Amino acid sequence: MADTPRLNFPRGMLAGQVAIITGAAQGIGAETARIFAREGCKVVIADLDAEKAEKTAEAIISDGGEALAVAGDITRNEAIEVLVRRAAEFGGGKIHIIVNNAGYAWDDPIEKIKDQQWETIIALHNTAPFKLLRTAAPYFMVKDGEARSIVNISSTSGIYGNAGQASYALAKAGLVGLTKTIAQEWGPEYGVRANTVAFGAIKTRLTQAPKGEYIIRPDGAKHAVGFHGGYDEEEKWIGDIPLRRVGTTRDAGLAILAVVSPLFSYVSGQTVMVSGGRGGM
Ligand SMILES: NC(=O)c1ccc[n+]([C@@H]2O[C@H](COP(=O)([O-])OP(=O)(O)OC[C@H]3O[C@@H](n4cnc5c(N)ncnc54)[C@H](O)[C@@H]3O)[C@@H](O)[C@H]2O)c1
Repeated sequence: MADTPRLNFPRGMLAGQVAIITGAAQGIGAETARIFAREGCKVVIADLDAEKAEKTAEAIISDGGEALAVAGDITRNEAIEVLVRRAAEFGGGKIHIIVNNAGYAWDDPIEKIKDQQWETIIALHNTAPFKLLRTAAPYFMVKDGEARSIVNISSTSGIYGNAGQASYALAKAGLVGLTKTIAQEWGPEYGVRANTVAFGAIKTRLTQAPKGEYIIRPDGAKHAVGFHGGYDEEEKWIGDIPLRRVGTTRDAGLAILAVVSPLFSYVSGQTVMVSGGRGGM
């Protein structure tokens, strides 16, 4: 027992670390930012929605945490440049964690998907995470002995497919390959870990009945989120979920914390399913 000290993180599991979380103004990203901040991490709230990003950051700061809101569309090169520069300044020259979380779906059956629809989803879920990593590479290809970790947010649609979600399923599956490649490129010399977290159904505005919420797409159009028969009708969803409930943003954020935390220090290149057991049987 003496050689097995009790785990103790008096300053938090992520003390001294700096994280960029994309899509962190609300939903899974915002809860992840709050959880990380509680664990001593400085969090950069990157989001398209400037107002909500600012509010999320302010709430973390008034709760005693350290947060910085950086507004911008992650599919634009200039936004990525600004995000990495401001995160590094905020972090005193260091960035330890990137959570590629910003996302939404633009669904249709295969025969109806338009080129613009397809390209928008691939640009958001694959190209933007790649470019963010490429731009932030100098902060990960370092040998200072500090922990570094990438988390790419996927979905059960990317692992099993989902009728009506060809572009989203392909993009979310693509992240699995990106994750494994980062693990192999940045693991050996720099000790960077990379993992994918694939969510099942989590209660956010994306999975609820439409309530007038929308995202401004790169083409400037308002993209309504939510769908009829969303988790408001939870009983219809839970039949194939062994835990018999739709997940909360708390469930989601805690899983992301687990993956970036020292408890996962020897886990890299993996896909962690956070789906209440759905698809895992
Ligand atoms: N909710 C679920 O059930 C579920 C399931 C599987 C995977 N996911 C994934 O989890 C991630 C978070 O989703 P959520 O449910 O929290 O959604 P959400 O809409 O609550 O939050 C997503 C955030 O991403 C931001 N965003 C979208 N496009 C952006 C862009 N181009 N640049 C910067 N920010 C942008 C939005 O403004 C929003 O604040 C997404 O990648 C989603 O695909 C969600």
